[in-house]
Amino acid sequence: MSGQGESALRIDSLFSLRGKAALVTGGSGGLGLMMAEGLLRNGVKVFIASRNAQRCAEAEAALAPYGDCIAIAADINDAQQRAALVSRIEEESPQGLAILVNNAGSNWGAPLEDYPDAAFDKLMKTNVSSVFGLTRDLYPALLRAASGEAPARVINIGSMDGLQVPVVQRVPTFAYSASKAALHHLTRTLAVELGPKGITVNAIAPGFFESKMTDYVLDHYQQDIEDDCPLGRIGTPEDIVGILAFLCSRAGAYVNGAVIPLDGGTHLSKGKREWMAE
Ligand SMILES: NC(=O)c1ccc[n+]([C@@H]2O[C@H](COP(=O)([O-])OP(=O)(O)OC[C@H]3O[C@@H](n4cnc5c(N)ncnc54)[C@H](OP(=O)(O)O)[C@@H]3O)[C@@H](O)[C@H]2O)c1
Repeated sequence: MSGQGESALRIDSLFSLRGKAALVTGGSGGLGLMMAEGLLRNGVKVFIASRNAQRCAEAEAALAPYGDCIAIAADINDAQQRAALVSRIEEESPQGLAILVNNAGSNWGAPLEDYPDAAFDKLMKTNVSSVFGLTRDLYPALLRAASGEAPARVINIGSMDGLQVPVVQRVPTFAYSASKAALHHLTRTLAVELGPKGITVNAIAPGFFESKMTDYVLDHYQQDIEDDCPLGRIGTPEDIVGILAFLCSRAGAYVNGAVIPLDGGTHLSKGKREWMAE
C-alpha cells in the first residue's frame, strides 16, 4: 500500500473501454443490442452482425446516436458469409479487434419424442461450432489488438441452462442446454490456448432477460421464473452491460477461462420454490 499520489491504482480509467473496437454477433436484437449500446456508450467502435439485413439496418440506425456503429448482415453458420464478415472487419478496423462478443444463438423447444435431429444439429452449429469458427477466423485481428497489459477479449454468451437443467421444464430444450454446456467448456479450452497469446476468453451465463428468444416463456412462466430467483426478478440491460464492461476493461484483465453466472443466483436455488411450498 502506498500513500495518495504514489498509488499504482489508475482508478479513473480502470473500467474504461474508450478507443477499442468490438464485434457483437446477434447485435440486432435482445441481449446483443443491449451490449452493443453499452459498448458504444463506453466509447467503443461497434460492429454488429446478424442474418436479417433489415433488422441490422434498423439496429444500426437506432444505435447511431450513441457512437460509431457498423451493421454487417451475415450468417455465422455460412462459411462464405463469415469470411466476408471477417474481411470487412479487417478493412474497417486495421488496428485489430479488441473485443469479440460471441452472442448470436438460437433455441428449440419440443417434447422428447418430437425433438428433430435437424434442430439438434443446427443448435450445436450456431451455439458451439460457429462460435469456434468465428473466433478462429478472427484470431489474427484479435492478436493485432492484443498487448500484455491490455489483452484482447473473447466473451462467449453461454446460459444458466448450461450450468444446470433448465428451470422451465414444460418446454424441454435438450439441444440448447447441451450446446451451452459445450460452449462453457470451449471457453475454458480456448482460454488456456489463447491466454499466452494475449487474448482472454470468458463466458457469461445469463438467466432470463427480455428478448425474442424468451418472449414465450416470459409470457407464460415469468412468475415461476422470478420465484425461482433469489433476487425475485429477471435481468436488466444494466446487468449485462455492467459485467461486459468489467470483463472488457482493465478491471477484468486477469479473468481468464471463467464462466460467470448472471442470474441473480437462480442456478443455486432452482427448485427451492417447490419444496419450500410443502
Ligand atoms: N434472453 C435470455 O434470457 C437469455 C438467457 C441465457 C442466454 N441467452 C443467450 O443470449 C444470446 C442472445 O439471445 P437473445 O435472448 O438476445 O435472443 P434473440 O433476441 O433471439 O437474439 C438472437 C440474435 O442472434 C442472431 N442470430 C441467430 N442466429 C444467427 C446466425 N446463424 N448468424 C448470425 N446471427 C444470428 C439473431 O438475428 P437474426 O435472426 O437476424 O440472425 C438475433 O440478433 C444467445 O446466445 C442466447 O442463447 C439469452
